[in-house]
Amino acid sequence: MSEQGTSAPAPAGPTSRSEQSGADRSWTVLELLRWTTDYFDRVGIDSARLDAEVLLAHALEIDRLRLYLDYEKPVLAEERDRFRALVKRRAQERVPVSLLLGRREFWSLELRVTSDVLTPRPETETLVEAGLSKLPDPGSRARILDLGTGSGAIALSLASERPQAEITATDLSKAALQIATENADHLRIGERVRFVVGDLFEPVAAERFDLIVSNPPYVARDAARSLPPELAHEPEMALFAGCDGLDVIRRLIAEAGEHLSPGGWLFIEHSPEQVETIEQELTRAGFEEVERRFDLARRPRVVGARWSKQ
Ligand SMILES: C[S@@+](CC[C@H](N)C(=O)[O-])C[C@H]1O[C@@H](n2cnc3c(N)ncnc32)[C@H](O)[C@@H]1O
Repeated sequence: MSEQGTSAPAPAGPTSRSEQSGADRSWTVLELLRWTTDYFDRVGIDSARLDAEVLLAHALEIDRLRLYLDYEKPVLAEERDRFRALVKRRAQERVPVSLLLGRREFWSLELRVTSDVLTPRPETETLVEAGLSKLPDPGSRARILDLGTGSGAIALSLASERPQAEITATDLSKAALQIATENADHLRIGERVRFVVGDLFEPVAAERFDLIVSNPPYVARDAARSLPPELAHEPEMALFAGCDGLDVIRRLIAEAGEHLSPGGWLFIEHSPEQVETIEQELTRAGFEEVERRFDLARRPRVVGARWSKQ
């Protein structure tokens, strides 16, 4: 990381003494984008150009694609101040873009996100697809459980695709469930999803479901030091699960059979290197028809299995 990345204020356009005359002049959209992309590159942000575009569009309160039509347009001083504040937090505090905007799109749904929830990731759409593949009838009245719902991303996506299904979403974090409930209400599907707080299956103790999906915490505690700095802005409870990252998944697999109807399916998201261990745990617990699903980068990302016992 360059010195500028750790200590210089992010000016979103030059402000150093030698560049002062440049700071006073007006900046066009394209100039600001170039300057910021270069700055983000230098501090080690992977998606430098995209982040610059998304933040500038947010500061200007326009759609990102509109930037391309406005390349030569001068940016007003107050707009640039707004942009500068965002650029600074992105580069120096490594706050993820989703948290700077307070929202993230998932499965074409716009979700509010805060530091109380994990920002939903594109690979989690693999889990939604896997669940839907076992409920092919759009009018399905299946009972579905989303364990560790966070922002509600998975439960709300399933609710949007299977409007007759009976959906329950749980989380150990009350603060996360508050955001999930707000998201459900905002999307006008609040009355179709039941949110309950508690540890794994404890809030649904005597219930059975046709489909259980979960993106649980699965990062190994030891990996914390080598993670991207952006993850420091997400809840620890959403990320870490013991020394090999499998603490929650092991408990989930051991208890899931008691909560599945005969023939019901369990799908779990995981990190690619955990796939074989999870498959073995599922078989050992009595599951059948164990299957893998791959994310867009073709890495194993989700394992599913069928519960055929009573
Ligand atoms: C990786 S995040 C997934 C959030 C969301 N489902 C998504 O895919 O974006 C894991 C979630 O599980 C919750 N969680 C962690 N341990 C839990 C437990 N023992 N019981 C219930 N929820 C738990 C966390 O609070 C967090 O919201």
